[in-house]
Amino acid sequence: EAYEMILFERQGAAGIIRLNRPKALNALCDAMMAELADALARMDADPAVAAIIVTGSEKAFAAGADIREMQARRYPATYMDDFVAPWEAVLGVRKPVIAAVAGFALGGGCEMAMMCDIILAAESAKFGQPEINLGMTPGAGGSQRLTRAIGKAKAMEMVLTGRMMGAEEAERAGLVARVVPADALLAEAVKMADTIGGLSAPAVAMAKEAVNAAFELPLREGVRLERRMFLSLFGTEGQQEGMAAFLEKRKPVFRR
Ligand code: HXC
Repeated sequence: EAYEMILFERQGAAGIIRLNRPKALNALCDAMMAELADALARMDADPAVAAIIVTGSEKAFAAGADIREMQARRYPATYMDDFVAPWEAVLGVRKPVIAAVAGFALGGGCEMAMMCDIILAAESAKFGQPEINLGMTPGAGGSQRLTRAIGKAKAMEMVLTGRMMGAEEAERAGLVARVVPADALLAEAVKMADTIGGLSAPAVAMAKEAVNAAFELPLREGVRLERRMFLSLFGTEGQQEGMAAFLEKRKPVFRR
């Protein structure tokens, strides 16, 4: 591959994207975001991939947007080129995306993790929105997604003071699904991807869409969407296989 700032591999049903700019603690520059968007699209289209893992190094998932690159930006030119737009590529991915976070997930790094579907954290993970220390605010959804994930009290404190939150606190607060030892992080993420890979793909895709709709829709509309999806799944092989296997007391085998 022609990527310079990310590594790209498959392991089981997982497509693994590793942010790889160690000298800058994986600071997210424009070139890396373009590569990430490309890799995400390729893995989303690859039938062998059931779930995508985005991860970084032991020291940093990502220490935020590249401050060196942003420093020269001025308004309104920066409004016209909207460099943040490509960051949202991950929101268009239909397969589950797991952020496997060790070390720093700060600013845009924390925001990137929150745009993924599941955050799995190593004990070393540190989350924060330190933009306030740069005379800025979060810019890729941090003020919104952090607040929805952990509530106003902690989100306001973190966004207003830049305080970092460790993995244990992040799990208690509801930001991360699970905390695992650092040396087991990738293996746990791959296990999760393999679990998802063993399930009915249309059910997985609809389940992701339904949960995400909870952030966008009023309750009544969200429940209506869920109901339509649920009922439509009676048209899938997965439903026939899953229910037959349960009643026959055997493991279901879902075709991908
Ligand atoms: C550019 C960065 C960087 C960043 C670290 N580096 N974070 N470069 N942009 N966001 C570089 C450092 O300049 C340094 O390069 C090298 O990585 C190692 O970092 P150190 O600071 O020496 O490491 P350490 O002392 O361990 O401190 C780690 C740290 C600190 C606490 C994570 O690096 C830090 O505070 N980084 C900035 C975090 C931040 O403010 N993030 C939010 C960015 S704004 P050299 O060349 O000196 O060795 C943002 C907005 C997003 O994300 C909005 C949407 C786009």
